[in-house]
Amino acid sequence: MIDVLLGLQWGDEGKGKIVDYLAAHYDIIARFQGGPNAGHTLYVDGQKVVLRTIPSGVFQEHCLNLIGNGVVIDPVALKAELTTLVGIRPDVLSRLFLSQKAHLILPTHRALDAASETAKGADKIGSTLKGIGPAYMDKTGRNGLRVGDILSKDFTKKYEQLKHKHIAMLGQYKEVVNWEEWEADFLDAVEYMRSLQIVNAEYWLDKQLKNGKKILAEGAQGSMLDIDYGTYPFVTSSNTIASGVCNGLGVAPSRIGEVYGISKAYCTRVGSGPFPTELDNEIGEALRKAGNEFGAVTGRSRRCGWIDLVALKYTIMLSGVTKIILTKADVLDGFKQIETGIAYSINGEETMEFPFDICNADITPIYKTFSGWDESISTCTSFENLPTSFKEYCNFVESYLGTKIAFISNGTGRDQLLVTP
Ligand code: GDP
Ligand code: IMO
Ligand code: MG
Repeated sequence: MIDVLLGLQWGDEGKGKIVDYLAAHYDIIARFQGGPNAGHTLYVDGQKVVLRTIPSGVFQEHCLNLIGNGVVIDPVALKAELTTLVGIRPDVLSRLFLSQKAHLILPTHRALDAASETAKGADKIGSTLKGIGPAYMDKTGRNGLRVGDILSKDFTKKYEQLKHKHIAMLGQYKEVVNWEEWEADFLDAVEYMRSLQIVNAEYWLDKQLKNGKKILAEGAQGSMLDIDYGTYPFVTSSNTIASGVCNGLGVAPSRIGEVYGISKAYCTRVGSGPFPTELDNEIGEALRKAGNEFGAVTGRSRRCGWIDLVALKYTIMLSGVTKIILTKADVLDGFKQIETGIAYSINGEETMEFPFDICNADITPIYKTFSGWDESISTCTSFENLPTSFKEYCNFVESYLGTKIAFISNGTGRDQLLVTP
C-alpha cells in the first residue's frame, strides 16, 4: 500500500517536518506534484534545511526518494538543492530517483510567470514566480519537455523550439528577456541531471510495492491551492489532493492506504486570494510573530487567521483523509481565547459548505470560542500533559471533522510530536 501525506489548508502546514519524522517507518518517500514553489522545512541535527523539489525522506538514511511524473522540475534549482544536500548527506544521490515523465521548468517559464503576474496587476495570484504555472500549461498544452527527453538526441532541437515559442510569447508581454544569460546555467544543470538515476517510475514503484516496500506519497502546497477545488483562480497549477497521487505517481486508487492530512492549529496563507478566517489585526500579527510565519521560499509575510473547520471538512472529504496531524499547537500558547470557524454567513445565510463564489461573496465566519491556557505546549512530552482547554479544543475539532487527530506537533524539532491515545 502507498500512504499519503498532504496539506489541508493553503500550504506550509509543516509537511516537511512530519514527513521527515514519518520517513523512519517507510522505505520510499515519493513527491507527486508541485515543484520548487514548495518550501518544506526540517531540522537536521539542529540545522535548518528547506527542501524544494527533493522529497523530505532524504535525511532518513534507509529511505529512497522518488520525484514523480506529476512534479515539475527546474534543473537549475534541482542542481543547487542537491549540491547543498550532498554537503550534508553525501549518499543523497544514490537514494534519489527521477521519473522520466516529470516535466522540466525552463528559464523562459520563469520569465513567463513573472510577465503574466505583472500583466495581471492588482489581480495577481501572488505566485512564487518559479515558473510553475507556465510549465504545467506546456504540459497540458502538449508542448512540454520531460526528464526522459534530456537523454534523447533530439533534446537540443526540442529545447530550441520551446524556447523560441516562449520568446515570442514574452514579446507579446513586451518583455525583453536575457535568455542567453540563463542558458549556460540551464544547460549545465541539464547535463548534471543526466548523471542522476532516471527511471520508468510507475514500473519502479509497482515493483517496490510488490516487494512489500512501504511508500509514503508527499504532497506539496495545500488542498485549498488545488487547481480544481481550491480558491480558483488563486491556486497553484496542480492537483494537490489525494487524487493527484494516482496521476502524479502512476499508482492505482486501490493501492492507497492511510491518508494523513496536515493542518495547523490555526491557519495561514501566502500570496493573494480569499481567506475567510483571516485576522487583519493585532491577533493575526501575534500569530505571525509566535508562529514565525514568513515564507520558506520567498520570505513573504504569511497572512494569519483562526482555524477554518468549514474549509478543513471540505478538504478532508476531497482526499478521504483517515488521520489528521495538527501542527504548531504551541503557537497558540498565551492567547486568551482560541476561535474555530464552524460555519460561514454568506449574504445573511448560514452554511457549512465551502461555496463556489469564494472570491466575490461577502463571507463572515461564525466562530466557536475556546478559552486559552497559561501552560507551555512546546515543553509537553505526552498528550496527557497538554492543557485541558487545548484538549477540549482538540476533541471539538475531531468531532466536527469526524476524523481522528493522530499526532500533535508542538515545535520545529523532529521529535516534538505527541501521539494521541
Ligand atoms: P511545509 O511547506 O508544509 O513543509 O511547511 P513550511 O516548512 O513551509 O512551514 C512550516 C514552518 O513551521 C517551518 O518553519 C517549520 O519549521 C515550522 N513548524 C513545523 N511544525 C511546527 C510546530 O509544531 N511548531 C512550531 N512552532 N513550528 C513548526
Ligand atoms: P508548500 O509545499 C504556500 C501559493 C503561492 C501563490 C499560489 C500560486 O511549501 O506548502 P505558484 O508559485 O504555484 O504559481 O503560486 O500558491 N503557493 C504556496 N503557498 N506553500 C506552498 O508550498 C506554496 N506553493 C505555492 O503563494 O499564492
Ligand atoms: Mg512551505
